[in-house]
Amino acid sequence: MDQITRESPAKLNLTLRVLGPRPDGFHALESLVAHINLCDTITATAHEDGCYALQCDDPALPRDGTNLVLRAAKALNNAAGTNHGIELVLRKRIPAGAGLGGGSSNAATTLSMLNELWGLQFSRAQLVALGAALGSDVPLFLHGPLSVVRGRGEIVEELSLPVRLAAALVLPDLCCATPAVYARLDQLPPPPPRPPLREVLDTLGSASHAMTVLFNDLEAAAFDLLPQLRTLSEQVTALAGAPVRLTGSGAALFRLFDDEQSALRLAGEVAARLNVRTAVARLAGP
Ligand code: C5P
Repeated sequence: MDQITRESPAKLNLTLRVLGPRPDGFHALESLVAHINLCDTITATAHEDGCYALQCDDPALPRDGTNLVLRAAKALNNAAGTNHGIELVLRKRIPAGAGLGGGSSNAATTLSMLNELWGLQFSRAQLVALGAALGSDVPLFLHGPLSVVRGRGEIVEELSLPVRLAAALVLPDLCCATPAVYARLDQLPPPPPRPPLREVLDTLGSASHAMTVLFNDLEAAAFDLLPQLRTLSEQVTALAGAPVRLTGSGAALFRLFDDEQSALRLAGEVAARLNVRTAVARLAGP
C-alpha cells in the first residue's frame, strides 16, 4: 500500500461556551461539536525519503511548509524519528476562515493517514498530542462524529448519541480571524448564563427544539468585529423565521433541520434573496 485517499470533514460547534482566558494566551472552552458531511478530500502517496510535496486546487492556500498538512506530516516524522517522504493532493470544498475547521480537519486526517501509510504505531492519544500542537481544533477531528471538547480543545470526549439532523449552511465571503475574535470577547461583558450540556443533549432529537438552546459565546465578538456578519445573521433569521447560529469564530452561520428538504429550502432562499453562498450538509452519524 503506497497510496491512501480519505475524506476530511468540516465541523459545526453546536454550542461553544468560553469559560475564560488562560495564562497561556488561549481560552478555556466547553463545546459540543458535530462533524458534517461537507468534506475535503486528501490523497497521500508515499514519496522518496525527505521529499514533501503538496498539490491543492485552492490557489489561496499556501503550498509550502506553512500549510497545516505539511506541518502535520513533518510533526509525525519528527515524533517517529523518521524521514519519510510524502506527496499530498488536497481537494478543498470547506471554505477557509469560516469556523468550519477545514485546515484543522486536514491536519488531523493527514496525521491518521500517514500513521497508517508509513506503518507507524502511534496511538490515538499520541496523535491527539501531536495535533493539539498544530491547532486547538485538530484533536476533535481525531474523534467523532459527535464530541464534547474541553480545555483549549485538546480534551475530547466522544459521545455515542445518534443524531440525525441536516444543516443549512450560510457561507459569506467574510473571514473571521480567530485571535481577533477571542481578543474582542475579552473586552465585552460576560455572556449570559447558558444551559447545561445535559439539557442541550436532550434536545438533539428535534432540530427546532435544539435551535432554541444552542449558543455560541463568540458570536457577539465576531458580530462586533464584522457588522456585515451581524446584519447577515439578522437577515437569515428573518428569512428562516427562527434563530441561526455561528460556528466557531465564524464566519459561517447554520440552522439545523430534521430533514434535508427543509435545509435545502432555506439554503435556496438565502442564496436567491441575499446573494450569498449556501450549502446543505448532514451531521455525520456514529
Ligand atoms: O489553536 P489555534 O491556532 O486554532 O488558535 C488560534 C488562536 O485562537 C489562538 O492563538 C488564540 O488567540 C485563540 N484561541 C483561544 N482559545 C482557544 C483556541 C484558540 O484563545 N481555546
